[in-house]
Amino acid sequence: MGQAIRLAVFPVAGFGSRFLPATKASPKEMLPIVDKPLIQYAVEEVVAAGITDLVFITGRHKRAIADHFDKSPEMETDLEQRGKTALLDTIRSILPRDCTCIYIRQSEQLGLGHAVLCARPVVRNEPFMVVLADDFIDSQAPVARQMVQQYEQHNCSILGVQEVAREQTGAYGIVRAQPFAERLERIEAIVEKPKPEQAPSNLAVIGRYVLTPRIFHHIEHVKPGAGGEIQLTDAISALLAEEQVLAYRFEGKRYDCGSKLGYLQATVDLGRRHSEVGAQFAAWLKEKHHD
Ligand code: UTP
Repeated sequence: MGQAIRLAVFPVAGFGSRFLPATKASPKEMLPIVDKPLIQYAVEEVVAAGITDLVFITGRHKRAIADHFDKSPEMETDLEQRGKTALLDTIRSILPRDCTCIYIRQSEQLGLGHAVLCARPVVRNEPFMVVLADDFIDSQAPVARQMVQQYEQHNCSILGVQEVAREQTGAYGIVRAQPFAERLERIEAIVEKPKPEQAPSNLAVIGRYVLTPRIFHHIEHVKPGAGGEIQLTDAISALLAEEQVLAYRFEGKRYDCGSKLGYLQATVDLGRRHSEVGAQFAAWLKEKHHD
């Protein structure tokens, strides 16, 4: 068995331009699905996988994320005095006690690969997870846990993948892979945002990665790629020449919450099941359907 995975990196320094104006002064990772921000779902997912060290790669306008995971004594006292115990529990349990948050600034938005490289001084020589909070995944078993379990068995980098429609390949990192084991494929090649006619398949990388620390060496050496950015995909492509990298078809429904449509779909699906308003919301939706 390989080294245990203790660290997760959350790159949250992007512009979030598809969500302007909402993301002008506030990060897209703070957008809520009903009442919980995307970044909190992502943190809960990795905590469920036994990860304790949370590394946020932040940028301008991202203070809200650090504030969200800080304790809030004034608010706690206020809720306590007003006897709002359920809400008090909600805010107290945002972060489990044994977790540590580490914030690193990406001073220039040079791309996802560069954002991951910013975590190197903390991650150093350990395998780690990268989670993109705007890829929201609703699943039985948290996807981070599924992936950590795969890592424990195979001891190499593993990318979360899903099939996408051919015409959408230009929005993803796309892999060419050979069958390896159940839900797993061995990656032979990976390319960032290929046009549909040039894509090696329609198997797309979704925002969940387990990476070996060797990736840092390759990020350091890749040249700016698609969109002029330092691409994580290009570094993974270089890593392939040295190490086995597997593609894992995770179990779960993924919503692209970096896009308005995916975000609305997640809101409706989760809203329907919400413990407080779900039944009423579902009934209202049904009624509207007959309009
Ligand atoms: P996206 O491609 O989704 O870009 O980045 P974005 O800026 O967040 O959103 P749009 O496309 O402008 O609407 C993928 C992930 O990489 C992070 C983003 O925060 C997002 O989680 N990222 C991207 C960084 O942290 N730094 C960068 O320089 C670029």
